[in-house]
Amino acid sequence: MPDSKKASPGSNATGFSAMLDRRQLLLGAAGAAALGVASELGMRTARAADRTEISFASASFFGKEGLGDLVKAYNESQDRIMVKFIELPPPSSSTEVYQGLIQQLARRTGTPDVFSQDVIWIAGFAAAGWALPLDEYFPKEKRGDYFPGTLAACTYNEKLTALPWFVDSGMFYYRKDLVEKHGGKVPDTWEDMATMAAAAQKAGDAKFGYLWQGKQAEVLICDAVEVITSNGGSILAHDGKSSIIGEKAAVEAIQFLYDTINKTKISPQNALSWDEEPSRQPFTSGEAMFMRNWSYVYPIAQDPKASHVVDKVAVAPLPHFAGGKSAACLGGYQLGVNANSKKREAAIEFLTWMSSPETQTRLALNFGLAPSRPAIFQDAKLKAEQPFMASLQNVFTGATPRPITPQYAKVTLALQSGISKALVSGNVQAELKAAAEQINKIVA
Ligand code: GLC
Repeated sequence: MPDSKKASPGSNATGFSAMLDRRQLLLGAAGAAALGVASELGMRTARAADRTEISFASASFFGKEGLGDLVKAYNESQDRIMVKFIELPPPSSSTEVYQGLIQQLARRTGTPDVFSQDVIWIAGFAAAGWALPLDEYFPKEKRGDYFPGTLAACTYNEKLTALPWFVDSGMFYYRKDLVEKHGGKVPDTWEDMATMAAAAQKAGDAKFGYLWQGKQAEVLICDAVEVITSNGGSILAHDGKSSIIGEKAAVEAIQFLYDTINKTKISPQNALSWDEEPSRQPFTSGEAMFMRNWSYVYPIAQDPKASHVVDKVAVAPLPHFAGGKSAACLGGYQLGVNANSKKREAAIEFLTWMSSPETQTRLALNFGLAPSRPAIFQDAKLKAEQPFMASLQNVFTGATPRPITPQYAKVTLALQSGISKALVSGNVQAELKAAAEQINKIVA
């Protein structure tokens, strides 16, 4: 911390250590150590009293550091605002994070002042009037540094109700050494992927051919959007007023996922209970050839303390069906201000810092989360440490959104249940048709 920031009024270093010295005499070494901590906290609290306190609720992202470290860095970077971090479950527990957040927002008490929101909730939060429109703080001419697509995802009814933070998209992880041994070419189609994965398994080079996330959870919808779109299908019809998930393109795609477990056997039965982390572990421990996952995995795969496959992993766009095109599901969390916050100015200041080029670069380097600002993709350190980000920039910007509707929370539950039943029973067409009927009732 630069000295200038330490020297806030009231924290006179000489006076503070003199006070400690006196108490040390009375308490002895152990007591003094404990007191040292308490006094330091006391000092922070005293300083905090002069600051505007705001709260920030977010899913807990992790990597080389945690989100709490980022909040701490902000608190130490200035002496006017103190942010209290309310840590929600990890983003893979999307439904739980959503519940935690809406319970707070629906009370309309103004807590949390700032929150991060999965891209799928933006429409719902805006329609409920919980997210403050940000247009007056971030007028159009200030938005040029963000990807237009992310800005569009942050806009509801022509109002900007979220500030872009990071962009996620599904991608295809592969083992360079195993691809080299089994044909040398990264597969473009799902069919070729399955053939190669089965060959590697047969040769004893990989316990698992392909890892994906089949748990009845939000990530299953992401995996489903990818296969369905890569076969020319979709969840909703073009006008968004009905579901076409019971039609041929979607049925074939979900059938392919079912077959990875039951026919081609390139994926284990366990995939049906996996979200992101359980599917990531066998990959970074060296047991698998291919995996679908988000960008956060890359820094873990390159960390010798966590990975047995350092330098053996590369990332490509996901495969597609013959005649189709590769598709990645659009994910990511964006920032929002509680419409009922009584501390708007402070909230906006913190939000601006969180979305700044410096903080986004730190998120990319330390958490593997892709920037919503194109310029950062060219950052030299990022290019050296995570070369896939720049080379897959088009995958991030061209990602396919999940249905954009204020009813998404209901739509996803119907989808999660229907796709899950299809994958467990193998009655793919019947279950997807039933899901489509349910979704029709929600979006009509
Ligand atoms: C990632 C994505 C998010 C998605 C979630 C599902 O965190 O960024 O959009 O909903 O995964 O698990």
